[in-house]
Amino acid sequence: MKLKHIAQATLTAAGLMLVPLSAMATEVEVLHYWTSGGEAKSAAELKKLMEAKGVSWKDFAVAGGGGENAMTALKARVIAGSAPTAAQIKGPSIQEWGKEGVLANIDAAAKDGKWDASLPKVVSDVMKYKGHYVAVPVNVHRVNWLWVNPEVLKKAGATAPTNFDEFFVAADKIKKAGLIAIAHGGQPWQDATVFESVVLGTGGAAFYQKALVQLDPGSLNSPTMIKAFDTLAKIKTYIDKDAAGRDWNLATAMVINGKAGMQFMGDWAKGEFSAAGKQPGKDYLCLPAPGTEKAFTFNIDSLAMFNVKGADQQKAQLTLANAVMSPEFQEVFNLNKGSIPARAGVSRAKFDSCALKSMDDMDATSKSGGLVPSMAHGMAIDSAKAGAIQDVVARFMNSTMTSQAAVQALVKAVKAK
Ligand code: GAL
Repeated sequence: MKLKHIAQATLTAAGLMLVPLSAMATEVEVLHYWTSGGEAKSAAELKKLMEAKGVSWKDFAVAGGGGENAMTALKARVIAGSAPTAAQIKGPSIQEWGKEGVLANIDAAAKDGKWDASLPKVVSDVMKYKGHYVAVPVNVHRVNWLWVNPEVLKKAGATAPTNFDEFFVAADKIKKAGLIAIAHGGQPWQDATVFESVVLGTGGAAFYQKALVQLDPGSLNSPTMIKAFDTLAKIKTYIDKDAAGRDWNLATAMVINGKAGMQFMGDWAKGEFSAAGKQPGKDYLCLPAPGTEKAFTFNIDSLAMFNVKGADQQKAQLTLANAVMSPEFQEVFNLNKGSIPARAGVSRAKFDSCALKSMDDMDATSKSGGLVPSMAHGMAIDSAKAGAIQDVVARFMNSTMTSQAAVQALVKAVKAK
């Protein structure tokens, strides 16, 4: 006899069986790729919150930064007709899944929680498919950061850089001091993360928008883009020979323990510093990537909800959606994750200086035009085009391809998709 049947028999015998067990057992299965130290701590908060609400948590964690492996796993499950309750999907991809007809309408939760009033329209629009909520935002990550170990700078006699000229002066000094200047993991999504910050730092937000959001051929094939690739080529020379395939959090660990000086990465890296007990401004610095002080590449993590069967599972799904949007959750999750809340009405009191800078900069750039979606993190363009750009950048990082050849390949790749 299976465990469940034993329990059912026992309960029935005791006369306690008022509703069938299956209807009581509510569960949410959540697909995500939050598997590094800081990320796992953040995901655990959601599990805790759901369990406190009487909903059990089935973890569907798929390791692999940037989520490529997770998306492959998700496709397989949806094709097999067994989609999870929710999955970590974001940006234009939510629309792609919406078109497949597999996402659930969660307007009831949105109405209950007054989401329209607590989310900026730019955010709520992304969460809706054909005017109905199908996803819920978890946070806002800023991608254009440079993470720096100040001890390493000191040892090398270098100063914190604000533009690429200063950046390469610092990188030279760190290299001369016998340390690794740039911590990097040679994976296509990490290459693309560095690339978009370099494009932003080279051409500014308006150029970034034209080139990497509107995919304007004239901007893709331009002297500014060539300059960006030249800078990327130079960056390559400061990365250690063991970078191929290295996970992003291991690269962050190199900055944390002083093996390396600097890393280009979104602020999920801060989750690793926090998990290691490090303090911003003292143990590490969060600087805007060189030349990007006045811009903000945003990356909004969200959980898209899939059609589930049965009233109890639907109820559990709506409970999950409302839990994610609660100010308590958005506070504790983002304190661990390195990001900032997606919704209004969360106290700033417990957030550190990096998070406060992110909040203020997001606000300022939303007025100045410097707020742009991250291409490397699935916020700017559809997944096929983003994949095509990522492939070109990865080829550039792993070969002797010239900057001229790279821009031509970019134009061709984007056109072909
Ligand atoms: C981003 C995602 C973050 C973090 C990171 C590393 O795309 O938005 O939440 O998981 O990848 O995997």
